[in-house]
Amino acid sequence: MRKIVIFASGSGSNAENIIKYFNSNGNVKVVGVFTNNPNAGVIERVKKYNIKAQVFSKIELFEGEFLQKINFLQPDLIVLAGFLLKFPENIIAEYPNKVINIHPALLPKYGGKGMYGMHVHRAVVENKEKESGITIHYVNENYDEGGVIFQKNFEVVAADSAEDVAAKIHELEYKYFPEVIAQVLES
Ligand code: GAR
Repeated sequence: MRKIVIFASGSGSNAENIIKYFNSNGNVKVVGVFTNNPNAGVIERVKKYNIKAQVFSKIELFEGEFLQKINFLQPDLIVLAGFLLKFPENIIAEYPNKVINIHPALLPKYGGKGMYGMHVHRAVVENKEKESGITIHYVNENYDEGGVIFQKNFEVVAADSAEDVAAKIHELEYKYFPEVIAQVLES
């Protein structure tokens, strides 16, 4: 049995999609969901899968005890799915190449601090980009800079609003993120 822990700060639609995907696969299980946001949609979403999201504060995240909480779950992979805080270096060091993130753009474009969610899609539309896409990458100590595992692009057309781009991104995320997680777990 391979174990996954998910971190999410917002709506949690990717977290839910990953849980659903692996519910029909006996070899992989989501054993924990963590959020820094007590109002995050992810908390409600995962309840229907009998998962209680654990809420933590930014201060707690950087304390040694938090690492112990993660270690207790013995994850094979830590998945950041719309997680907006910087990930602590002590956890990355304990889990080398076992922390991955999804970013809603083709990194290195539109990455870095403050570049998340709709901020990314608005910038893509404002700059009249001809394409955007998703990047799944390893997490290192700098925002959005770890090694790229997977990218998938799509065409942005002139009529696309930032909301349209967001919808196309979500579609790609739902299709590919669980598959890439499964591949990383097998590698
Ligand atoms: C996703 O599109 C994800 O790529 C993005 O936040 C969204 C979360 O949606 N992540 C970032 O922008 C990270 N910099 P969700 O909460 O519905 O899964």
